[in-house]
Amino acid sequence: MGVSKDYRPVRKAIFPVAGLGSRFLPATKASPKEMMPVVDKPLIQYAVEEAVKAGITEMIFVTGRTKRAIADHFDKAYELEHQLEKSGKTQLLKIAREVVPKGVSFTYIRQTEALGLGHAVLTAAHLIGEEPFAVLLADDLISPQASALGQLIKQYELFGNSIIAVQSVPSPEISAYGVISGPKHADRLFLLDNIVEKPKFEDAPSDKGVTGRYIFTPPILDKLRVLQPGAGGEYQLTDAIQALLSQERVFAYEFEGVRYDCGSKMGLLRANIELGLEHPETSRDLHKYLKAKVLPESQDPK
Ligand code: G1P
Repeated sequence: MGVSKDYRPVRKAIFPVAGLGSRFLPATKASPKEMMPVVDKPLIQYAVEEAVKAGITEMIFVTGRTKRAIADHFDKAYELEHQLEKSGKTQLLKIAREVVPKGVSFTYIRQTEALGLGHAVLTAAHLIGEEPFAVLLADDLISPQASALGQLIKQYELFGNSIIAVQSVPSPEISAYGVISGPKHADRLFLLDNIVEKPKFEDAPSDKGVTGRYIFTPPILDKLRVLQPGAGGEYQLTDAIQALLSQERVFAYEFEGVRYDCGSKMGLLRANIELGLEHPETSRDLHKYLKAKVLPESQDPK
């Protein structure tokens, strides 16, 4: 299949990072939840790296109070670099420098009130114009080798329509998600006919929950402009997607890859363990540690 005639490359990405992160208090009292590390990298860096890998060159952060560390993180750290250089720590110097990807711009705008995800995206509308754009929620860490946003962009290139990432979610948890329904269109791809934010279990239209990766065509911005408060009294991105369905096709893509819900303590711990088991510096010792700690002696295979 060739590239759609409507296709315009996706170069901009919005990262809504204004949330209070209250589920992680006291850790998030004065610092952003997006800066919490998984092994040795903050959550937001995983999301930015995924975006860079997918060809995004303009990163737009919708920030709030206590979020300055994010802007500092993606900036040159002269003093640190100087010290590392002086002491010959070249490998660490390389790691520090690589945080800021080459040929990529970073823009920060403030969402002065936390009125919901839809409102956060709308706050960045003037930086989007008439281009397609991605939205990434850093809380949803997806196994880096999966390139989840890259998978969505491949589909976008085929159809030129908005497309959102979904995954099957165990039934007791479905009420924490945006939930979609619609007929299968191609392998892993669904044509949306409904999307609901945080439905009751009995009202959920399917088991396919929205994961925090989206690609939108510009008309979503008009839907956001006329949005009414929805679930939880917030301006919900999900409701704008529902409104977009009456105007154009929207797809959902069941991406390949493991998603860690790092908006929850368990998800963050799981991500640290699983990525720690893959990290060259921690893999061996963590395996050893978990084996000794988790497997009771009676179950030890030896
Ligand atoms: C947001 C979205 C929801 C989506 C979820 C994925 O909810 O509103 O549709 O399923 O992210 O993480 P939140 O988790 O911010 O409440």
